[in-house]
Amino acid sequence: MPMDESLQVRSYAKINWTLEVLFKREDGYHELRTIYQTVSLYDRLRITSSAGPINVSCDNPSVPCDETNLAHRAATLLREATGVVVGACIEIEKLIPVAGGLGGGSSNAASTLTGLARVWRVEVTEEDLQNIAASLGSDVPFFLEGGTALGTGRGEHVQPIEQVHCDDLLLVNPGVQVSTAEIYAKLSRLTSPGPESNIPFDLFAAEGISELPFADRNDLEKAAFDLYPEIAEVKRRLISLGATHALMSGSGATVFGVFDKSETRMRAESELMASGYWVQPVRTVDREEFQRTIFELP
Ligand code: C5P
Repeated sequence: MPMDESLQVRSYAKINWTLEVLFKREDGYHELRTIYQTVSLYDRLRITSSAGPINVSCDNPSVPCDETNLAHRAATLLREATGVVVGACIEIEKLIPVAGGLGGGSSNAASTLTGLARVWRVEVTEEDLQNIAASLGSDVPFFLEGGTALGTGRGEHVQPIEQVHCDDLLLVNPGVQVSTAEIYAKLSRLTSPGPESNIPFDLFAAEGISELPFADRNDLEKAAFDLYPEIAEVKRRLISLGATHALMSGSGATVFGVFDKSETRMRAESELMASGYWVQPVRTVDREEFQRTIFELP
């Protein structure tokens, strides 16, 4: 195996069109029903096979590059699962806001698994990859699939659904880093375990997905808005600037706005930038585009 084999991988961001928290489970996680969507913002990972240990570097100093880094953990788990004896260099060019509800760390982990399997030339079954991904984090399995997908369980059971297309989305982040665990811990109405409020949701419901209101509900918003009122302010601004919908993504702090005209979106973009927010226009990336573009040519 050539030691210098290298690959550039796109590590896409996601939003959640909806996120419903159904109940708190015995294992402490919350049972979810969410619709994931990949969007056209991505980190770049350069993955190189090496003779040394697993090494992660990142151009953003706020990202820890030690064994706690999800990409580092992904590489270690893949190495254990396949028994390869080589190492890897994983260089992350970070464009996705850190701890911003856009799945950046989870996406990096999934891209590392996909990229390393290719660079190391190891055979891993889809099931093994899914299991490793799920053990890394609730959102990681989604990033092996991309596009529009339904997430159930703690988010790790992923099922592709009808692909949603939207060209005029605006991601806005007020500059706070949110701890997912902290937001879930604040869900006071869901502190007792029990399946009472669990509504069966399966293929049947997925087929009727086009009737679901998109960008309509995120059950984590209230807890996040209480802790960080600046997130609620971003949502309010997006609506007042003409977004037809605005919703916090994941556990925040990024809020996405949906626009029906690109001129309105462009105006909102410059207004919000002038207010000092991180602002990024994006469009949806469906499953086909995701799979086709994940590996970049050198
Ligand atoms: O799975 P992940 O490591 O991304 O989750 C981070 C934290 O968010 C968990 O430790 C848990 O506190 C919370 N969480 C949850 N229910 C979920 C997903 C995450 O309570 N479905």
